[in-house]
Amino acid sequence: MTSLYIRNIGLLATPEGDAPHAGKRQGMLRFARNAAVYCEDGRIVRIWEGEHSAPPAAKIIDAGGALVTPGLCDCHTHLVFGGWRQHEVPLKLRGASYLEILRSGGGILDTVRHTRAASEDALYGRASVFLDGMLRLGVTSVEIKSGYGLDLGTERKQLRVIHRLRQTRTQELVPTFLGAHAVPPEYEGDADGYVETLCESVLPVVMEEQLAEYCDVFCETGVFDVPQSRRILQKAKALGFGLKIHADEIDAIGGAVLAGEMDAVSAEHLIATDEGGMDALAHGGVIAALLPATSFYLNKSYAQARKMIEKEIPVAVASDFNPGSCPSYNLQLCMNLAYLNYRMTPEEILTAVTLNAACAMGRGGLCGTVEPNKRADLVIWNCEDLELLCYRFGSNLAKTVICQGKVICSEKPA
Ligand code: NIG
Ligand code: FE
Repeated sequence: MTSLYIRNIGLLATPEGDAPHAGKRQGMLRFARNAAVYCEDGRIVRIWEGEHSAPPAAKIIDAGGALVTPGLCDCHTHLVFGGWRQHEVPLKLRGASYLEILRSGGGILDTVRHTRAASEDALYGRASVFLDGMLRLGVTSVEIKSGYGLDLGTERKQLRVIHRLRQTRTQELVPTFLGAHAVPPEYEGDADGYVETLCESVLPVVMEEQLAEYCDVFCETGVFDVPQSRRILQKAKALGFGLKIHADEIDAIGGAVLAGEMDAVSAEHLIATDEGGMDALAHGGVIAALLPATSFYLNKSYAQARKMIEKEIPVAVASDFNPGSCPSYNLQLCMNLAYLNYRMTPEEILTAVTLNAACAMGRGGLCGTVEPNKRADLVIWNCEDLELLCYRFGSNLAKTVICQGKVICSEKPA
């Protein structure tokens, strides 16, 4: 048995429970001062408030009076990919839009070419490096989407990489199938034909081989429309996948409404979502996974987080790490952007990047809070309170990251 005792926690801040928090509850945390946390075999066992002596034989970590929170959960990434897309930035600065670049065979399709050409080992090595970087930033669980293959062989290759990462990493990783990320060149002008192939030949194999837990669709102008997205999600649901939707990233074409209709666990992006879309999310109990670094990088407006919270929609915040619309996996930066641009409170933001994000990955019972029986995923921060954490930006404020009870890294004071 390995045990760990984290003492001298100035402020322990955590949401509580296994289910997503919405409305006022999103900003309600448990605060424990002068606290200590005891973990055994990768799980949290007890939390004490006030002085307490260390259990015998436990490895002791002194938090030095700092802020401690649950490990961060990133519920939306595309982190297995080949190549980068730095050549798109000048195009973008000259006025080309994200969808124009995609329509001309670049964007996602450029990454598809690189991902098809890359070996499984190369993709695995690269993704491991990204996950190491995320861990140093305090991210202890991560959802990872496929979607840069768009053919069975390459989608499988990406999903196998995620599978191997799950076996070798201490971070909790959740695989999502995103075969409907773009129409591949082989089906140019025949999106319906590609949807048919996905439904009849690809989704059943992905389920049979247990390569993904969730199915996602990029429901967007010029990509997959609502009837096509619905068809894929209906098939996925019938096969037993949980559902996610890239909805209303650029245009509000009905993705959020579809998420509500299909009982998706989460609708993601929602930059352009209108009143009707928000009502559908609220009604369907769908988590809004908001991606502020993508708004920043695409020079777009920011999702209406305050309105969503008012409407009792549980809000999660994630990175969207990918080589096009967000070449950064820094979830701390997303917290800063959520503070300034969504006008969420530091308490709401903590819930958004812990419990609500864990629930958007189907892991609400496993991680996202500091409570007995949850995974021992914690971050000791280089600051004393949540306000400071959301205010400072551009440097890594994670001092010590504990992932499944393992002390993974200790940073010098930021
Ligand atoms: O969530 N919009 C679709 N998918 C990603 C971008 C992928 C890419 O550009 O490579 C997103 O923004
Ligand atoms: Fe995305």
